Amino acid sequence: KKKAFVDKLLAKMTLDEKIGQLNLPTSGDFTTGQAQSSDIGKKVEQGLVGGLFNIKGADKIKAVQKVAIEKSRLKIPLIFGMDVIHGYETTFPIPLGLAASWDMNLVQQSARVAAREAASDGINWTFSPMVDISREPRWGRVSEGSGEDPYLGSEIARNMVYGYQGKDLSLNNTILACVKHFALYGASEAGRDYNTVDMSHVRMFNEYFPPYKAAVDAGVASVMASFNEVDGVPATANKWLQTDVLRKMWNFKGFVVTDYTGINEMVDHGLGDIQHVSALALKAGIDMDMVGEGFLTTLKKSLAEGKVTQAEIDTATRRILEAKYDLGLFEDPYRYGDARWAAKEVYNMENRTVARNVAAQSMVLLKNDRQVLPLKKSGTVAVIGPLVNNSMNMGGTWSVATKHGSSVSLMQGLQENYGKEVRFISAKGANIDYDAKLEEIYAAHGKKTDRDSRSKEALLKEAVEVANKADVIVLAIGESAEMSGESSSRTEITIPQSQVELLNELKKTGKPIAMVLFTGRPLALTNVKDTPDAILNAWFAGSEAGSAIADVLFGKVNPSGKLPMTFPRSLGQVPIYYNAKNTGRPLDQKLVEKCEYQRFRSNYMDECNTPLYSFGYGLSYTKFNYSDISISNANPKGNQTIQASVTITNTGDYDGAEVVQLYIRDMVGSITRPVKELKGFQKIFLKKGESRKVTFDVTPEHLKFYNGDLKYDWEPGEFDIMIGTNSDEVKHSKINWSK
Ligand code: IFM
Repeated sequence: KKKAFVDKLLAKMTLDEKIGQLNLPTSGDFTTGQAQSSDIGKKVEQGLVGGLFNIKGADKIKAVQKVAIEKSRLKIPLIFGMDVIHGYETTFPIPLGLAASWDMNLVQQSARVAAREAASDGINWTFSPMVDISREPRWGRVSEGSGEDPYLGSEIARNMVYGYQGKDLSLNNTILACVKHFALYGASEAGRDYNTVDMSHVRMFNEYFPPYKAAVDAGVASVMASFNEVDGVPATANKWLQTDVLRKMWNFKGFVVTDYTGINEMVDHGLGDIQHVSALALKAGIDMDMVGEGFLTTLKKSLAEGKVTQAEIDTATRRILEAKYDLGLFEDPYRYGDARWAAKEVYNMENRTVARNVAAQSMVLLKNDRQVLPLKKSGTVAVIGPLVNNSMNMGGTWSVATKHGSSVSLMQGLQENYGKEVRFISAKGANIDYDAKLEEIYAAHGKKTDRDSRSKEALLKEAVEVANKADVIVLAIGESAEMSGESSSRTEITIPQSQVELLNELKKTGKPIAMVLFTGRPLALTNVKDTPDAILNAWFAGSEAGSAIADVLFGKVNPSGKLPMTFPRSLGQVPIYYNAKNTGRPLDQKLVEKCEYQRFRSNYMDECNTPLYSFGYGLSYTKFNYSDISISNANPKGNQTIQASVTITNTGDYDGAEVVQLYIRDMVGSITRPVKELKGFQKIFLKKGESRKVTFDVTPEHLKFYNGDLKYDWEPGEFDIMIGTNSDEVKHSKINWSK
């Protein structure tokens, strides 16, 4: 039915109308009444626009759709996209934080809430999930992804797609997902945004491709090409990537959109002029051109000159029309978005309650000496730091639809939820430092940073005075939201110096310090980690950040988040990741703990090899004891399934959740294999004193990898099965699997 419909429509379309469907401009902004007279409106009327993005509000969207339906010759509806990355107006933690929850139900639920809110406000396409694996904390966009691991990343990719798209895309509360950025954007050299990428195909397929493939397998409707090059060809013109891998190997059926001006940027990459690069993109398998209008302005000429074919233009047009058909837009172009529906759906209490829960589950307890946390619900707490009264920053990066300033700040969350029992006093203590760098850029956009004009000394003095009046200090420091995200690469991944000085000053008061860390990336915390008694990593936790942090600080929620990305000791260790190779000169493991330099071994003279906090790490207010692993069969054969089990006991004083992690090492391979790879995890909840047996089924599927010929298979032999509380602290059990 879909094919017949699209065939018929295609037959009626002029060349200009077909090329128009491949055009995705950004709306700029206009009022509802201006929809038709705006530049965009005029193009829509001429059938030169396939979709629009960056337009917010059900009425505005309806007004432009009306132009398409009532004024354009063929009445083809538009699709409306937006970066609904971690929530719509109800904002969830930044994706790196969401990943730290290791809770796939919550991941899916957050995407579902985002889809419902966005759909009610007229959006039917989100540029999410972003699944770029990254081992580069310098890269600001690590905040937008799921971290370093292909297995965790794949699980999250799949669940996000299900959350956005549901089971039936034609329902008016499900929206198209767009997996991005295909491919390898997270491996940009030196962590500098948009920089060159170069890696082996074995690494691509084993370590970087899995989450994109997982999204495709989950039925993702669209893919966004990345800005970077792959094998010397920008992804936007890379036929091997966009057609051979994506469509032929993975059987992707949806459409591919460029990133913002991705086609035009290939002129600067040095691939030729705009006509040439536009033709290259179309021929590579790109269907829609975001913003740059390379397709719109050159494809007709290229067709006349024989540089592209009619079939290539038709194929791309067909894919866009099919997506619109799947959304049900030909039946009812106004089915998404309605102001009354949005008023009920967007940022409602139910959604905010989900956001508060997700936020609390994303937090990672990095340190808790002398059980400083949870805090007692009595006495006086000094809440100090530049991120205490900072609602603007709570949403983190890419919270496009958020009403900035409406998120619950830390101080507000503490006061509103625990203000009856506890007296909270506060001081700013320091500026973030980077706000000075950003001030000019902000001013150019009519925005302001949160910079305090008082001197450093005055800020410190006030903070110490406030601290001296309290029983305990909650210190809220770290990055501002703008310090991670797109175009926010850093060469230092430490807490800015002004705030380190604040921490050191407060230490002199002798009061216990619980540090709440705000960050969009793994930070090297070596220079601060010994000073506070406790460190709670809160990322940027979204709309309900302050309440969620308060819930964790006071023990209403026992933290259970685990790091989805390694925290290095220093930048010099980067890239540092848990699933590394062994090298031919590994360290003597007995000496690793002592961090001793080993000559002619693979290590540094001035730093240990181990990270500060490893992948999968995160403490709880309670303690979990792991039994040894029991294996149902240590000598399996062929396609058998075996069980690996441990018994976990909550031996501490609180009820709590634990993420039990399964890792496997392939001891001998035809190519070198990682020292361990995550192959499963289960998040369980145990009451104080409770024990539970946790079992993982292991099959040859878990052992497969792309070999030197890029054949996906497993090889018989010895495997180390590991189960533990993080990637470093694991129990071992060896098995021998024959074919
Ligand atoms: O979706 C984004 C992408 O991640 C970065 N460039 C702009 C796009 C649209 O806003």
